Amino acid sequence: MKLQNDTFIRALLREPTEYTPVWLMRQAGRYLPEYKRTRAKAGSFIALCKDADLAAEVALQPLVRFQLDAAIVFSDILTVPDAMGLGLYFAEGEGPKFERPLRDEAAIRRLAVPDPDSDLRYVLDAVSRTRSALANSIPLIGFSGSPYTLACYMIEGEGRTDFASVKKMLYQRPDLLHRILQVNASAVTAYLNAQVEAGAQALMIFDTWGGMLSDRAFATFSLAYTQQVIEGLKRHHAGARIPSIVFTKGGGGWLDKIAAIGSDAVGLDWTVDLRAARQRVGDRVCLQGNLDPAVLLTDTEAVISEVSAVLAAYGTGAGHVFNLGHGISQHTPPENVAALVAAVRDRSRSYHKEALG
Ligand code: CP3
Repeated sequence: MKLQNDTFIRALLREPTEYTPVWLMRQAGRYLPEYKRTRAKAGSFIALCKDADLAAEVALQPLVRFQLDAAIVFSDILTVPDAMGLGLYFAEGEGPKFERPLRDEAAIRRLAVPDPDSDLRYVLDAVSRTRSALANSIPLIGFSGSPYTLACYMIEGEGRTDFASVKKMLYQRPDLLHRILQVNASAVTAYLNAQVEAGAQALMIFDTWGGMLSDRAFATFSLAYTQQVIEGLKRHHAGARIPSIVFTKGGGGWLDKIAAIGSDAVGLDWTVDLRAARQRVGDRVCLQGNLDPAVLLTDTEAVISEVSAVLAAYGTGAGHVFNLGHGISQHTPPENVAALVAAVRDRSRSYHKEALG
């Protein structure tokens, strides 16, 4: 029952650890040739997500190569709007799209909270299959998009650089956006709690597009609904504390506000100075991040030097989870990831000596 390596969980709870735990956003994915082979076997990315055995297989692939301290369920944030009936598909080389985006008021009124146990069964199966395959070696992270980030894709029908339709709705028909966000917040809460029941040992909320909002709009349309989710999460399951992480890309300026909504950790992108961030929120939350993923496109020497700089910026003591500031690029050479993970394990020990006495 007990985890062989619970360093990640302890760091999220700001308890002392022997070294700084590390995992990487999108650690399972196209930069690994074995991932591409399994995806080809499944036929497509969506088919891969929907096959619990293959999803567990790819979630474990990076763990064979690298000494990571957490695994993440292999899935996508867009499974939730798909379960709401929007019809997720991937056009080759174009990213995710919806067949039926929310184009009129009637569609928004019809929107309903899916039942994770039936409509998202395949994700829960992937969670439990991955959890058993891990055999209590390291913890498994469950995840979801934030209510606002999901709304961005649901309204636009695909990823954008400006999300103009979303912003138009926000300023002209805030009532409609609030209605979508309310449904999303209930859906995300139920979905994350179902992942915990299925075996997830920590939870992460990705607010990928919250950082594009004005200060006031961020508080009203993104953070308030993420907070509603956090307040509805199970904090304990099967005798264990289930920590949560909130990651708002581009949210560095709102660090204090994000740190105050009740999650255990805040994810930071690479634009943030970790030292200053720690001074601002210090002992309130754990900080996760924040190496620029572009560093991984260089060479092992640059990787090791930048890893050292991130560790030094956080400094001595508990409460840091090493990660990238955003997802790993598909053009990353796996040997650079190996260098990163080894460097964190090796070079972080000296920052924890005092804490352990
Ligand atoms: O971290 C992990 O290893 C777990 C898996 C994971 C995926 N997507 C797999 C995936 C996670 C946590 C996500 C989250 C996700 N998905 C986010 C939030 C995080 C972020 O990156 O900001 C968002 C916005 C999405 C939506 C999404 N899914 C996009 C924009 C894309 C296309 C990305 C691209 O690089 O082409 C996806 C597809 C996707 N999700 C892939 C993977 C491995 C690539 C699919 C493939 O194999 O072709």
